[in-house]
Amino acid sequence: MARTAKIVDLPAITRLDKSKGKISAQLTQILRDAVQNGELKAGDPLPSSRELASSLAISRGTVIQAYDQLIAEGVLSTATRTGTFVSHDLSDTVVIIDETGKQPSDLKPHLTSSAQAYAKILKEFQPIPHRPFAVSVPVGRTRPNDVWRKFGNKFRARGEAIPTGYDEPQGVFSLRHAIAAYVRRSRSVHCEAEQIVICSGIQQALYICSQILFQPHAQVWVEDPAYRGTTALLANIPQQIDIVRIPVDEEGIQVENALNIAPHAQAAFVTPSHQYPLGMPMSLARRSALIAWAKQQHAWIIEDDYDSEIRDYGQPFPSLQGMSPDQVIYLGTFSKVLFPSLRLGYAVLPPALVAPFCGLRALIDRHPPSAEQHVLAAFIQEGYLEKHIRRIRKVYAENRLQLIALVKQYLPPSLAHLQSGDQGMHMVLWLHPKLNDVEIAIAAVNVDVAVKAISTTYSLAQQRPGLIMGLSDFDSEQLHYAMQQLAQIIKQAAFVHQCL
Ligand SMILES: Cc1ncc(COP(=O)(O)O)c(C=O)c1O
Repeated sequence: MARTAKIVDLPAITRLDKSKGKISAQLTQILRDAVQNGELKAGDPLPSSRELASSLAISRGTVIQAYDQLIAEGVLSTATRTGTFVSHDLSDTVVIIDETGKQPSDLKPHLTSSAQAYAKILKEFQPIPHRPFAVSVPVGRTRPNDVWRKFGNKFRARGEAIPTGYDEPQGVFSLRHAIAAYVRRSRSVHCEAEQIVICSGIQQALYICSQILFQPHAQVWVEDPAYRGTTALLANIPQQIDIVRIPVDEEGIQVENALNIAPHAQAAFVTPSHQYPLGMPMSLARRSALIAWAKQQHAWIIEDDYDSEIRDYGQPFPSLQGMSPDQVIYLGTFSKVLFPSLRLGYAVLPPALVAPFCGLRALIDRHPPSAEQHVLAAFIQEGYLEKHIRRIRKVYAENRLQLIALVKQYLPPSLAHLQSGDQGMHMVLWLHPKLNDVEIAIAAVNVDVAVKAISTTYSLAQQRPGLIMGLSDFDSEQLHYAMQQLAQIIKQAAFVHQCL
């Protein structure tokens, strides 16, 4: 015989607070919780709506409303003779109550190893505070000018950027067309608009590449050091990619070395125009060797071209894609030349990859916000992007000189020296080998200084301490103060580690 639910005796029913209103919603939640935590079991009958209403001194209609909602959710069922009862479909529901008597909602869910790994990664990818020496913060003279804001207003009010239905997963045509013309002109990339897919930054493009290009356990070459967004991604996707770290020298990735270690790899992830984070361009000899290998192996080269537009003088180095469009997947971004929160980047793909790439793109988030794409398309088409780039190149060149002067003023060369370079938005400050860059970067945050430890970009075997220092356009007073603080931290650490 079925147990009779003494519904009015349910401890939770005392939670019903008539003074708070929405009594039917409260009752629904109380009954739903009672079923979920096992106070009411599958098959338990509930009192009639009349009985429950009178025992709680509420209207019968209120109870009926709550029952109807739970019947619609499948929590309760109803039958002509037996009345309302907890649905039998819930009989498999296991209610876990631990020895301390805790209810399931009090217990921590079991996290898979990949969930735990991603939770750890989140800590590493927290946004950097907008403080000296953060990289690519759009402050001061590098902030996009008023045209950007005006275009936004204009297009949202009455242009193509008004609300619409779903758009193309590949990205709006006007933006793809504008990017194709821009990268052909400025980066010697060979492409048509049809080969371009708009992404939420290079990060998303890297993710899609990692999902569509490789068999499980594929070997891939990754520069050593390399961008953590690439290494953390490849190390954590379920395909269990075999990441073969290849050291870089002043000519870029050591292709000879890679050929000896892993000749049959399926891909190479590289930053040929401006090695991340060290800053040198890949030599022509290395480019040719890399392409020759990729052609022979039918391997892919993933070219991360994140900030090459920003060169202090002379032309940016041409892309690798222009030398071998069938082998190279070219990734570009507006995070550096405009601002990171825009979340717009692009992949230039060999034609056969466009459909699979867009298919996955559609499943992730359909497509990037159309309004931003239209605004950016007009910004590029009307020549403002290139004007903006010309302006910020001068600013970064000036800021580079200022950083060099600051380091000279506040730090002895025996403890820290800057790696020379003439492009990009950051510089590397090498530290005395006995210093711990992670500890220094953490201490710096506490005094409002934002630097990144370079050792995290290396494989364990190659690690050496240094700081990645951004050239964002903070004012001179702020920069002096920040450098003083940082120098103090480094000197204190040097004292502790006996490097003085
Ligand atoms: C080398 C490198 N690649 C890719 C990215 C990712 O850029 P996005 O903001 O376009 O995802 C960054 C960002 O800092 C980077 O430094």
